[in-house]
Amino acid sequence: MIIIKSQQEIEAMKPSGRLSAKVLRMLGDLVRPGISTHELNKFAEEMIRLEGGKPAFLGYNGYPASICVSINDQIVHGIPSRDVFLKDGDIVSIDVGVIVDGWVGDNAATFAVGQVSPELSLLLDVTEASLYNGIAAALVGGNIGDIGFAVQQTAEAYGFGVVYQYVGHGIGRSMHEDPSVPNYGRRGFGPKLREGMVIAIEPMINIGSGDTTGPFADGWTVFTLDGKPSAHFEHTVAITADGPLIITAE
Ligand code: MF3
Ligand code: CO
Repeated sequence: MIIIKSQQEIEAMKPSGRLSAKVLRMLGDLVRPGISTHELNKFAEEMIRLEGGKPAFLGYNGYPASICVSINDQIVHGIPSRDVFLKDGDIVSIDVGVIVDGWVGDNAATFAVGQVSPELSLLLDVTEASLYNGIAAALVGGNIGDIGFAVQQTAEAYGFGVVYQYVGHGIGRSMHEDPSVPNYGRRGFGPKLREGMVIAIEPMINIGSGDTTGPFADGWTVFTLDGKPSAHFEHTVAITADGPLIITAE
């Protein structure tokens, strides 16, 4: 069941979106060779609580941390660790979810650690562009498939692989609501986009094939099957009569 939000409810989602965006930006500023993924998590949790929010991921289906940190061939849901340190040439996806006043905000971005190869730099740019093209397709009267089509077309134009197995989602008082928001699709297919829908659009794009493997022993971390790197960008977006509104914005 898709839960439609009133204009007032969309307004009420902005503080959680704003804090999600702020924490993600500050984590991005902390990214550098030598920092542990645990340090990033600790910073995020402290910052979220200091600003009056709660980490949305902590304890969600037993998830043990406040953010996801997924390095190189890790696609999503990497668990922060005291033993994992970022190093020059890595790419790192950081995913932050925050609850403020009972509303959830969810966003992610992938950052270069130090100097990365031109190929990785292109992967980051194209994945971010695919997110913004997907957002631009989130229009009243359209379909969910319009969003996936835009994302997929952007990524595949560069020969990159779209992850099919994990998708975006509706979001509101719960982190995961209907509908699913795939990063692939056909124009005019899928649920109708209506005013007041709020969705998390989150392309996961691979240098190689879109196939995934895992999670393995830790129960969470998802990897590319071919071991090649993957990027991930995400915004929480409201569908309004005036066009798509990015909720996870400062
Ligand atoms: N943004 C991710 C998602 O939409 C983060 C969830 S991590 C979890 O699924 F641990 F909270 F599940
Ligand atoms: Co999400």
